Amino acid sequence: MKVIKSATELSRALIQSSAFVPTMGALHAGHQSLIKKAREVSENVIVSVYVNPLQFENQEDLTSYPSSPRVDEELAAAAGATILWRPNQSELYPDGMTKISSGEVGAIYEGNRAGHFDGVLTVVHALFSNIKPTWAIFGEKDLQQLFLIRKMASEFFPAIKVLSGETFRESSGLALSSRNSRLSAENKNCATVVFRSLQAAQSQPAIAEMKREMLATLSSEPSFTLDYAEIIDDTTFDLAVEESRNKRAIIAGWINGIRLIDNMAMQNIRSASKVAAI
Ligand code: PAF
Repeated sequence: MKVIKSATELSRALIQSSAFVPTMGALHAGHQSLIKKAREVSENVIVSVYVNPLQFENQEDLTSYPSSPRVDEELAAAAGATILWRPNQSELYPDGMTKISSGEVGAIYEGNRAGHFDGVLTVVHALFSNIKPTWAIFGEKDLQQLFLIRKMASEFFPAIKVLSGETFRESSGLALSSRNSRLSAENKNCATVVFRSLQAAQSQPAIAEMKREMLATLSSEPSFTLDYAEIIDDTTFDLAVEESRNKRAIIAGWINGIRLIDNMAMQNIRSASKVAAI
């Protein structure tokens, strides 16, 4: 794997079609599964590592964001990345920043954090402009982000094919996240309530029951503070109605001040509840 030191070096390396996995570092097996997926579609796999200040609501969350540069290089290479790029701000925005608005869907659920999705879209727009990948791969765990990036890409980069990778889970069902490194063993145990709640919803036939079971399971864990738990239509992010064909349960909350988010398709029970053994 080649570690790229500058934007000039990057442009020299970008002569063929490529698959791109943007990250904020602190790589884990979930990122590796996205890199492997990228490798399935292209021999040239670019991973970027850039902790994007625009998408953090508060300074403390930004400064405490985990960082592990050496491990990132090892994990990216082991999963099949061929280029790792750590841009700085001036390389990312050589012609100044084009600010992208995330619109109405960007203001709900995870968008309650002021400016979060505008910040995500602005940096992904800049990464796409620099790299011009053929494919870009994002995790389904950040479902709302995936939805908004697909929308932004269809408007500004119609040639880029945006693919999604299934959420990677510990054997307990806990979805992998860089922030999990801040959870104690006991916190992690409590955090499995999110997965159990999604499964409880999935076993129900109608929206009211899905929601009832999800909330009942969540409230059985006293250390979990709920932000939201809803059943949405994942093609629009509107609340689902019984006729919606793409129902998803989405949950967000905190354990010990650490934010957890997760989601699960309410149809297609087999694939949605698949748990990876790590
Ligand atoms: O999902 C992430 O890690 C980030 O939101 C992304 C897409 C790399 C943009 O900073």
